[in-house]
Amino acid sequence: MTPTADNRVWIFDTTLRDGEQALRASLSKKQKIQLADAISRLGVDVMELGFPASSPGDFSAVAEIAQTIKGPVMCGLARAIPDDIRACGEALKGAERARIHTFIASSPLHLQYKLRKSLQQATEQAEASIRLARQYTDDVEFSCEDAGRTPIDDLCYMVERAIAAGATTINIPDTVGYTVPTEFAHIITALKERVNNIDQARLSVHCHNDLGLAVANSLAAIEAGARQVECTVNGIGERAGNCALEEIAMILNTRADTLPWHTGIQGHEIYRTSQVVSQVCNMPIQANKAIVGSNAFAHSSGIHQDGVLKAQNTYEIMRPESIGMRANCFNLTSRSGKHVIKHRLHELGYRDQDYDLNEVYSSFLELADKKGQVFDYDLEALVFAQSLQAQD
Ligand code: KIV
Ligand code: ZN
Repeated sequence: MTPTADNRVWIFDTTLRDGEQALRASLSKKQKIQLADAISRLGVDVMELGFPASSPGDFSAVAEIAQTIKGPVMCGLARAIPDDIRACGEALKGAERARIHTFIASSPLHLQYKLRKSLQQATEQAEASIRLARQYTDDVEFSCEDAGRTPIDDLCYMVERAIAAGATTINIPDTVGYTVPTEFAHIITALKERVNNIDQARLSVHCHNDLGLAVANSLAAIEAGARQVECTVNGIGERAGNCALEEIAMILNTRADTLPWHTGIQGHEIYRTSQVVSQVCNMPIQANKAIVGSNAFAHSSGIHQDGVLKAQNTYEIMRPESIGMRANCFNLTSRSGKHVIKHRLHELGYRDQDYDLNEVYSSFLELADKKGQVFDYDLEALVFAQSLQAQD
């Protein structure tokens, strides 16, 4: 599909804010700078650096990153209260391009129990905050927290007023990961149809992963007209996390044959950034995590290994190199076939005449049945043992 400007989806990375918020221990300024540097090289459009009003340490980290990292729009989060907005505006002063992201809840549950306010009062507070934020920057994002559980009439009301007050991006969070894709897409469609001034703002989504649907919901929202997706590297974030940046980017990249939308993400930076985020945040990546898990490009069964050796795309829909990973790998287990053993020995420098493949393979199977996984040094020992036998 040919990329067009209309089909360009902005990637708003919130690893340093929503992601960091979910860690057992918050990050130091130095760690945040290290992550910001890696994430900016990914080619994200906006980076949410933190929540400046939350602590002096976060204010200072946001201020330093905003001043030093160039490229993406630098964004800070602020509740819809004047002190938060001012702190955010001050922290972002040194940025080339600054965005203030302010939010207030819109769902009946949050309004009644958390804020003890009516929808109208919350909307008025949002309007005042957006106007104040516009005194610092003309790039203001507004989020209706818990939009996923907000009646559509209430959501349309708040969104229309937020845009009229000066919000240039409207973000629709599925704060508790409650919606399913068809439902979330309907919310976006309804906003596009019913909010009179909707074209004056970029429509964004922010999906949590409580039911494992964050990526699916984000994709459904893009299909319905959202043009910014908020996400985090490795999907880290509150509770079960956020939409995973690498997944949404690689879906659009890999399925460009049928999906017309595209991002500015530099695929070859994905693996490196994922590793840095995992290490710095002390958040291991599950082995079977899509795109970046250690098993994502590993092949175990003999049938699969044989297929990949014959033509990589038999069992790989993406190349490991496309995310900056050096190569795929073959797990050597009793499910592996002769073909992959020969291939591995060749990679280790053995020539066909150095060993008898049938014999090495049968001792490999014996060992694999006992050990579970066979490593390169085991294979070498088998070849060595066989050569000793041949000399006797
Ligand atoms: O999940 C959420 O609703 C948020 C907002 C602050 C955007 O993180
Ligand atoms: Zn969130």
